[in-house]
Amino acid sequence: MAGSEWYKEMAVYQIWPRSFCDGNGDGIGDLWGVLQKLDYIKSLGVDAIWFSPLYPSPNADFGYDISDYKDIHPDYGNLEVFRQVLDGAHQRGLRVFMDLVVNHTSDEHRWFQESRKGPSSPYYDYYFWRQGRVSGGRRQPPNNWTSLFEGGAWEYDEGMDEYYLHLFARKQPDLNMDNPQVREEVKQIMRFWLDMGVDGFREDVITFISKAPGLPNAYPKLPAANGLRYYSNRPAVYDYLREFKRDVLDYYDCFTVGESPMTTPEIALRYVAEGPDKVLDEMIAFSHMEADCLMTDMVQRPFNLVKMKKAFSEWQLKLQGKAWNALYIENHDHPRVISRYGSEEYPTESGKMLAAMYMLQRGTPFIYQGQEIGMLNLRLPSIGMYQDVMTQNAARIASRILPRSQVLKLVQKASRDSARSPMQWTDEKNAGFSEATPWFFVNENYKQINVQAQDKDPDSLLNFYRTLLKFRKEQPVALYGDYREYRPKDKHFYVYERSYKGKRLLVICAFGSDALRFDAPEGIELNSGTLVLSNYDMNFVIANGFTSRPYELRVYLFSR
Ligand code: GLC
Ligand code: CA
Repeated sequence: MAGSEWYKEMAVYQIWPRSFCDGNGDGIGDLWGVLQKLDYIKSLGVDAIWFSPLYPSPNADFGYDISDYKDIHPDYGNLEVFRQVLDGAHQRGLRVFMDLVVNHTSDEHRWFQESRKGPSSPYYDYYFWRQGRVSGGRRQPPNNWTSLFEGGAWEYDEGMDEYYLHLFARKQPDLNMDNPQVREEVKQIMRFWLDMGVDGFREDVITFISKAPGLPNAYPKLPAANGLRYYSNRPAVYDYLREFKRDVLDYYDCFTVGESPMTTPEIALRYVAEGPDKVLDEMIAFSHMEADCLMTDMVQRPFNLVKMKKAFSEWQLKLQGKAWNALYIENHDHPRVISRYGSEEYPTESGKMLAAMYMLQRGTPFIYQGQEIGMLNLRLPSIGMYQDVMTQNAARIASRILPRSQVLKLVQKASRDSARSPMQWTDEKNAGFSEATPWFFVNENYKQINVQAQDKDPDSLLNFYRTLLKFRKEQPVALYGDYREYRPKDKHFYVYERSYKGKRLLVICAFGSDALRFDAPEGIELNSGTLVLSNYDMNFVIANGFTSRPYELRVYLFSR
């Protein structure tokens, strides 16, 4: 935040620690495992690691319910081994970002335990405690908002005879950021990690941290996310972020990226537009992840390429020259991308195409563990085997209208758990993730899909990621070029161009396995360029075009 712009050239590797690598043989991924894999991470050609939460947590939401912000979960290690990871990363030129989850804490956090003692507790006002309403002789919650994970947004507390607000799970009470003391706590958390040497934060649902005064009822009452407009992107979010920047971040050479569900590029620009008013370096968009669903992965639709392209182009163009994008197609909150936007029949081809498709856009690429080897969705045989609180909640709601077999299919397609199965390192026992029985199911395809096998194979997806990351780094046009899309309505090809200082990069991505003719856009002579990346051999050009092979990718560089 201190003015330098190294973040524009970096690529980030995301670790979801529980499933990355088990170093001490208890079946749970941990920081000892990360230590063993630092060379591997470096070998990818990335520049930084973002750790999903490593803090103590009762794991109601696997780490996103934090019970102590200044320590490490004993499952993952301790502060000492964290410091070793940090040093090891820094020695290799890798920066380290922490997940900052301050919209809510765990209900097992000391602040919440104290706040539960009543209005005289200094922590009472750290959360949203409110009396219920009585209507028709029955106790009702203070307003009609719904939580994003579990029923209503309010939980009644017997001892207090009051309700507390939770926008996510019951065990994730929302912090009251309007309370200046809470903001001081956040600043202390930031300083704690920055002083240790951490290089920045991914800020969890940061656009939800301010709630409308009076917490009004929301009408018309929506079946899901009711109340959203009273807790999303409220004006004070900006003020609080500016305060964090002024009091903390400006004193460090660090990076921040905010997570912002349902945010438009116009709204994002409030926070990330370059200049003195910028309060975050980047914002995590969601709309491109909705090309096969409505608002949430749990409302499935057939994949719609035009919708996906529109979302990418909108963010590219609206931020162009004004702000920097965060680019991703996978993280711990979505099923695996090859299973969604690509094809399990053509995992390597579609995996390579998808990688180039998003990483050659303008912005900072994020790569989620396992994405680089093309890990696919898990398909567990029963709903009960899924662990994620959001999945279980969605399954409960879906069961009201769908037969059980359909609900299972939905869960198999859409669950976040699909991205949370243990990392597939080798074809040995437990995919080389652990000596002991892993905490969660290993995908049965680990004998085919694993790091060890792909490392040796020059044509593997893993080695393509390495090539691609190196290419992006070495080509200013890939880093800084302007973005322009061709044929936005085309239902088979995604075609875009980047241009910078006389150089042009043309990215051609075929979605689907149909053999369809591609004709170069007007004014572009494919044979006058160099084919710099592709996912097939023998890339002939016939009459300034070609007929696409399944999920074909071609990237041409023009230097005139
Ligand atoms: C973010 C996280 C997600 C978590 C939620 C609540 O969306 O990425 O994993 O469940 O916030 O903290
Ligand atoms: Ca372990």
